[in-house]
Amino acid sequence: MNLVRTKDYEALSRRAAAMVAAQILLKPDCVLGLATGSSPVGLYKQLVAQYQKGELDFSKVTSINLDEYKGLAPDHEQSYRRFMNDNLFCHVNIDPSRTFVPDGMETDSEKACRDYDQRIAAEGGIDLQLLGLGNNGHIGFNEPAEAFATGTHCVRLTQSTIDANKRFFASEEDVPRYAYTMGIRSIMQARRILLIVSGEAKAQALRDALFGPVTPKMPASILQLHADVTVVADEGALKLADKG
Ligand code: F6R
Repeated sequence: MNLVRTKDYEALSRRAAAMVAAQILLKPDCVLGLATGSSPVGLYKQLVAQYQKGELDFSKVTSINLDEYKGLAPDHEQSYRRFMNDNLFCHVNIDPSRTFVPDGMETDSEKACRDYDQRIAAEGGIDLQLLGLGNNGHIGFNEPAEAFATGTHCVRLTQSTIDANKRFFASEEDVPRYAYTMGIRSIMQARRILLIVSGEAKAQALRDALFGPVTPKMPASILQLHADVTVVADEGALKLADKG
């Protein structure tokens, strides 16, 4: 595992964007596994700026997002499809038909998950998977559990995740209770993984993920077993990691 320490969120975003940009330059038709949330916003801004300067070409890139709220339409303000359109897709020359997000409007959960796993397989897997870290150690919406869920599945969000995400909604009641998420197997099968973590609120989760036991109770701890993981974290997030 490579650990890159940055001074702050801005520097983290630049370092992480450089890794994604390098992936696109090395393999223009790469498959990027993408994440939403506050962690990658700065990274996406950097990528958009590089595209606008003519330094990056997304025309052959495919993207596969980690997750989507069940029940939110693609144009819903808080849907992850909308987030990706607003933060990245609408600002670069990626082919919209090559961008994949689980279908939050599919009410048949088994079908939604099966279709998504088939999509990932059809694209030949993921070259570089971007991840954020939940306060409770989740990656994607793989919440702490008794066992690692393997494929794409429908998950009931934990109260901790609902609390963390309610800032984006008018009230807590509006936060969807279910989401479709890529499973641990798909994440672990990505050829390279980039985990970005910012801020002291994540310090305990990051420490446990990096140095604690590998357990489904701390889903991100599975990353210790992946052969090519880079963690880019700022000083706040690494506050407790330094203590071992
Ligand atoms: C988002 C996702 C989540 C977030 C995590 C951290 O697609 O899968 O695992 O990465 O909840 O969220 P932020 O970055 O908002 O702290």
